[in-house]
Amino acid sequence: MGEMAFLNGDILPIAEAKVSVNDRGFLFGDGVYEVMRTYAGRIWALEPHLERLARSMRCIDLKGPALGEMRSRIEETYRRSELPDAQIYLELTRGVGPRTHAFPAAAQPTFLITVRGAKGPTQEERERGARIITVPDTRWARCDIKSVNLLPNVLAKQQAKSAGALEAVFFRPDDQVTEGSSTSLFAVKAGRLLTREEGPQILSGITRRIVLDLARELNVAADEGPLSLKELLQADEVFLTGTTTEIMPVVTVNDRTIGTGVPGPVARTLYNAFRRRIEGS
Ligand code: PDD
Repeated sequence: MGEMAFLNGDILPIAEAKVSVNDRGFLFGDGVYEVMRTYAGRIWALEPHLERLARSMRCIDLKGPALGEMRSRIEETYRRSELPDAQIYLELTRGVGPRTHAFPAAAQPTFLITVRGAKGPTQEERERGARIITVPDTRWARCDIKSVNLLPNVLAKQQAKSAGALEAVFFRPDDQVTEGSSTSLFAVKAGRLLTREEGPQILSGITRRIVLDLARELNVAADEGPLSLKELLQADEVFLTGTTTEIMPVVTVNDRTIGTGVPGPVARTLYNAFRRRIEGS
């Protein structure tokens, strides 16, 4: 087997999965999504991803399949792929209808799942640490909704790539940093974690929550609150978290060296604990 798609009831090869030009996901970005990972044949953190998906759906008033149905479709599509370490993408849009902004009266949601081999940073990249840049946060006011409208994120990531960096993190007009284009952001100062509090300006990252939980277990203090660009540059350590990125130490921000310029001990300890939790799951 291998890469696999599920589209509106059918399991088929990804290349054969087609949606209409009148799909509202295509026309308006009128949809929500999730990205999940599997390790050694098991779907990691499926329940929190489903809960966040349900919340995103409620926030945009999108009625889709029941959670139980989505769970079994994800499990079935993944099982059919036979890929031990995979990345599962799920997208739900408001379906197909003539192009008018208001919701169509009777559209059926489009429900897509794709399963592909996982690709995250290599061990070597993680040991080297990442370079990141900062960019103005031009996104909308509801970054807590995991919507498929990702144009500012796409442009930010491309800017990072062009600058030879792994990620772009957003800062707001008040110079507070929020998160990366596809990752959550942490700083470490004097042994304490600092990350932006949950709210409309960031996505409630599943990996972010797991890291905060691991920090509690390891007696590493954590503050959730504002984080300024200046504090970021003066941090002892900076790291990114995300489903595909896992935990990635950052060694430069805008070419300024963070800490000693190598991945720091807090990120390393948390990463080791993260791996242990995955292996024990
Ligand atoms: N991105 N912040 C943003 C803006 C994100 O898009 C993501 C995830 C995260 C991290 O969330 P989590 O730990 O739940 O993956 C934070 C996914 C992986 C993506 O768009 O590819």
